[in-house]
Amino acid sequence: MKQLKIRHLLGVAFTMAGAIFILQGCVKEHLPDPEVYFQQDVLPIVSSNCTQSGCHGTVDREGGYKLTEYAGIVELVKPGNYKGSKLYQVLVQPLGYMPQGASRLSDEDITTIALWIEQGAENNSGSSGCNTDNVTFNQTVAPILQAWCYSCHSGSSPSGTIRLDSYSTVKLKVDDGKLLGSIRHDSGYLPMPDGGGKLPNCEISQIEKWVADGALNN
Ligand code: HEC
Repeated sequence: MKQLKIRHLLGVAFTMAGAIFILQGCVKEHLPDPEVYFQQDVLPIVSSNCTQSGCHGTVDREGGYKLTEYAGIVELVKPGNYKGSKLYQVLVQPLGYMPQGASRLSDEDITTIALWIEQGAENNSGSSGCNTDNVTFNQTVAPILQAWCYSCHSGSSPSGTIRLDSYSTVKLKVDDGKLLGSIRHDSGYLPMPDGGGKLPNCEISQIEKWVADGALNN
């Protein structure tokens, strides 16, 4: 009786495993991996997590790596082979992973980087032209800040005690001029994101447009 029960359970387990296997196969066949782009997808992840002071930015090039731009990042990559790429390996290795002393990148961010490597690790950009029409806080500005700035300016101990993860706290930095000053690298402001990188021109134009339109909570 007991024997039978175990066999039965095993049977169920194998059937389920089989079903999951087949299901995954189907999903993979019907939904091709999304195309990811260096400029919009990969650069913000690497730039906002790896280039701060003491790390791999233009000033402190720890280990000789400068991860604020394509040339420095692609040195750590074997195009078409994410598992063989140092950039991927350092993110997933069990001990001594990067970013050092911080929490691991999210699975989503790691997957984005792996996909980009698999797709050839090109210096590509998904958008053709820059759209500054209908720029809003929620649809345009917040996602840019999330990609480029939240790693340091959100949560309970944000850099410089500046939080950029809500409208009201962003608005404070609009009103004192520091948001635009810092992303444009105007003199008299600390250039952001910290570490020597710069937002793509399109993102800067979109934030400028939103500010010019009154920096509304829209
Ligand atoms: C890697 C961490 C990091 C990232 C990413 C980052 N910042 Fe900063 N930010 C800092 C640090 C550190 C300071 C300086 C705090 C201090 O010394 O007062 C700072 C200061 C600032 C200041 C004050 C500037 C001034 O002149 O006083 C603003 C505004 C700012 N950041 C905006 C941004 C924006 C916008 C982004 C995204 C585009 C961003 N930061 C991304 C770490 C970061």
